[in-house]
Amino acid sequence: MSSAGGGAGGGPIHPRLLAMMMAARYYGLELDPGEFRLEPGDTVPTAAALSKWAQNSAMWARALRLRWKHLFSVTGAGPVVLLFNDGSAGLLTGSNVETKIVFVRDPRAPDADPPIPVDEMRLMEVWSGEAILLRADRSQNEADPPFTLRWLFGLVMKQRKALRDMLIASFCISMLTIIPPLIAMQVFDRVIAHHSYATLFFISAVVAILIFYETLLGYARRLIIVVLGARIDATLNIHVFNRLIRLPLDYFERHPAGETMYRVGQINAVRQFITGRLMTTILDLITLGVLLPFLFYLNATLAWIVLVCATSIMLIILAFLRPVRLIFGKVIRAETERNAVLAESIFGIRTVKSLALEPQRKALWDEKVAEVGKWRAELGKISNWPQTLVTPFERFMWIGILLVNAYLALTEGQAYQVGSMMAFMMLSQRVSAPLVGLARLVEDWEEIGSAMGQAGEVLNRPLELDSASGGIRPKFAGAVTFEDVTFTYPGTKIPALDRVTFSVPAGSTLGLVGRSGSGKSTVTRLLQGINREYSGFLKIDGADLREINLRHLRSSFGVVLQDNFLFRGSIRENILAGRPGLTLEDAIRAARLAGAEEFIERMPNGYETYIEEGSPNLSGGQRQRLAIARALITDPRLLILDEATSALDPESEALVNANLNRIARGRTMFIVSHRLSSLVDCDNILVLERGKVMDIGPHAVLLERCAIYRTLWNQQNRHLHPESSGHAALAPTLLQGN
Ligand SMILES: Nc1ncnc2c1ncn2[C@@H]1O[C@H](COP(=O)(O)OP(=O)(O)OP(=O)(O)O)[C@@H](O)[C@H]1O
Ligand SMILES: [Mg+2]
Repeated sequence: MSSAGGGAGGGPIHPRLLAMMMAARYYGLELDPGEFRLEPGDTVPTAAALSKWAQNSAMWARALRLRWKHLFSVTGAGPVVLLFNDGSAGLLTGSNVETKIVFVRDPRAPDADPPIPVDEMRLMEVWSGEAILLRADRSQNEADPPFTLRWLFGLVMKQRKALRDMLIASFCISMLTIIPPLIAMQVFDRVIAHHSYATLFFISAVVAILIFYETLLGYARRLIIVVLGARIDATLNIHVFNRLIRLPLDYFERHPAGETMYRVGQINAVRQFITGRLMTTILDLITLGVLLPFLFYLNATLAWIVLVCATSIMLIILAFLRPVRLIFGKVIRAETERNAVLAESIFGIRTVKSLALEPQRKALWDEKVAEVGKWRAELGKISNWPQTLVTPFERFMWIGILLVNAYLALTEGQAYQVGSMMAFMMLSQRVSAPLVGLARLVEDWEEIGSAMGQAGEVLNRPLELDSASGGIRPKFAGAVTFEDVTFTYPGTKIPALDRVTFSVPAGSTLGLVGRSGSGKSTVTRLLQGINREYSGFLKIDGADLREINLRHLRSSFGVVLQDNFLFRGSIRENILAGRPGLTLEDAIRAARLAGAEEFIERMPNGYETYIEEGSPNLSGGQRQRLAIARALITDPRLLILDEATSALDPESEALVNANLNRIARGRTMFIVSHRLSSLVDCDNILVLERGKVMDIGPHAVLLERCAIYRTLWNQQNRHLHPESSGHAALAPTLLQGN
C-alpha cells in the first residue's frame, strides 16, 4: 500500500483527493490526504477507495454511477465529486435546469476562480459517469454504538438469512425426531401384534429415509451455527479493538493492563452464550412447541405429569438464581484481581527479578488464588443445591410415569399398550431439556449481564473526542504559546501546572528543567493533547490546541520518552512503524539523523534484524536511538524528548547529543532533561517548580538571575569547582531524588 502522492512524503496532492477535500470542507470537515490508501493494483484513486477514505474520517460517502439528467437533482444538497476519464476530478457545485447547464469547479484552480458553466456535450466528453456524494455524518452514534446486550443482539439479528435457515432446519429436525417414537409405537402395536412383514418393510423404508434427512439437516444446522458464530466473532473483535484503541491514554494509565484484558475478554463469554446456549435453547423450545401436542394426544394425564415435573425443575433452578448471582459476582471480582497480579508480574518481570521480589509476588499470587478458590467453592456449593433438588423430579419423570401408567391401566382396565407407552417415554425425555435449558438460560443471563458489565465498563467509556474527524489541520511552523495554563490531573487536588505562561518561537529549542514532579512531562502531555481538561490557552502557530484535529496534532509531533516500546518486527519496520508511502531510504535517512546508522549496519541482518518482544537483543542506547529515528521518520515540525537520554551511558548520550543540533534544524524541540549540561545549547530553558514557571531564558541569563537554576547547576557541576563541595561524586546522582 502506498499513499497517492499526497501523504507524509509531500509532493502535490492528487486532484481527486483535492476535490474530495474541498467537498468535505464544505461540511466543515478536513480529510487528511496522508490517510488515503490506494487499493493494491490501482494507479489512480478509485471511487470506492475515495469514499472509503471519507467514511474512515466519519463522513457519509457513496460512490455512484450517474447520468447527465441526475446531476440536476443531486446539486441541491452540497458539492458532488465527479471523476473524470483522465484520472482527475471536478467538483459539481450547482446547476440550472432551464438552461441545461451545470457548474463545475477544478480543484486545482485558485479559490477565487468562479465555477465553470458546462453543458451536456462538454461534460460527457470528459466525465466517466462516476460520482461521489458526501455528507457530514450525523448518525455517528449509530456507527459507533455503545456496547450493550441490545447492540449485540442487533448484531446477531443482522444475520437474518442464516438465522431463518437455521430455524427452518431446526423445525424440520424437531418434526423428524418425533416421528421415530411414533414409528416405534406402530412397530409394537401393529407389526408384532399382527405378524405383518409387509408393514415392517414399509416402516423400515420410511425410517431409512427419515434418518437420511435428519442427518442432512443436522449437518446443515451445525454448519450454519459455525458460520454464524465465526461471522459474529469477527465483527465483534473488530468493533472491540476499534473502541479500545480509541480510549484516552488516561484510561490505560489508571487501569492495569491485566484488568483491561480480562474485562474485554469477557466479551467472548457473551458471544459464546449468544451463539451457544441461547441459540440451542431457542431451538429446543421450538422442539417443545412441536412435541407437547403429541404428548397430549398420546396420553393427556401423563402429559400433565410430565409438564408439572418439568415446570417444577424450572422453578427450583429459578429460585436459586439470586444467591448464585451474588456469589458469581464475587468470583468475577476475585478473578479480575488475580489476573491483574499475573499481568503485572509478567510485565514487570525485569523489576521482579532484579529486586528479587519473587517471594512477595508469589505470596500475593497465592493470596489471590486462595480468594478465587474460596469463592469458586462457594459457588459450587450453592449451585449444588438446585441440582440436587431437581434430581427426584427428573427421575420421576422417567420412571414415575411408567408406574402411573401401569396403575392407570390396572384401575381403568385399559388395554396396556406397550407401543404408545414407549413412544410416550421417548418423547417425554425431550420435554425437560428445553425447560431446564430455559431456567439455565435465565441463570446464564445473570452471568452474561455481569460479563457484559465488565466489558462495557471498559468499552463504553468516553472515547477520545472526534480524533478522526473534527478540527482543523493546519500546516505547522511550530511556534508554541502557553497562556495562563492551569491543569490538575483528575483525582488529584494540587494543580500539576499552575498558570503557566511562556512561548517558544518556531524552530527554536526549549529545555525544560525542574525537580521531579515539577510538571515537565505534563507540559509535553498537554501539547500532545493527551490531557485536554486544562484552563487557559495553549496555541500552536496561534491556533487553539482544542480546535486542532487530534490525530493531525499527534502526527505533527515526534516523541521520544525515557522508555520506548519497540514492536516485534524488523528494525526497518520499527522505524517506519507501518506508515504508508515510506521506504527503506526514509528509514536510513532517519536512522542516520538519530545516530543509529552505525550500529544498525553492524547488526547481522542490518535493517532486517528482527527485534523480539521487549527488544532483548538491543542495548538501552541502541533502543533509544531507534526510538529517535522512529520519531524523526515523518520529519515532524515539533519534537519532544522527555528524558530521552537519561538512561543512556555517557558515550551513547554524547552520541545522541552530538546529533541534536542536526536533528533540531527546522524544528521546534522540547527537551526535558535532568542533566543541565545537555541543555546548555538550548535557545531557551524553562525552569519549573511545583507547576509554576520560575523563569525562562538562555543558560547564561538564567545562571545570572534565576536562583533555582543556579543551585541546580552548581549541584550538578560541583566537580568543576572542587573547593565548594566535599561530596562531589555523590551530588549529581542524589539530585534526581525528590
Ligand atoms: N497520570 C497522572 N495522574 C495523576 N497525577 C499525575 C499524573 N502524572 C503526573 N501526575 C502528577 O503531576 C505532577 C507533575 O508530574 P510530571 O510528570 O509532569 O513531573 P515531571 O516534572 O515530569 O517529573 P519527573 O522529572 O519525575 O519526570 C506530579 O505531582 C505528579 O504526581
Ligand atoms: Mg517526567
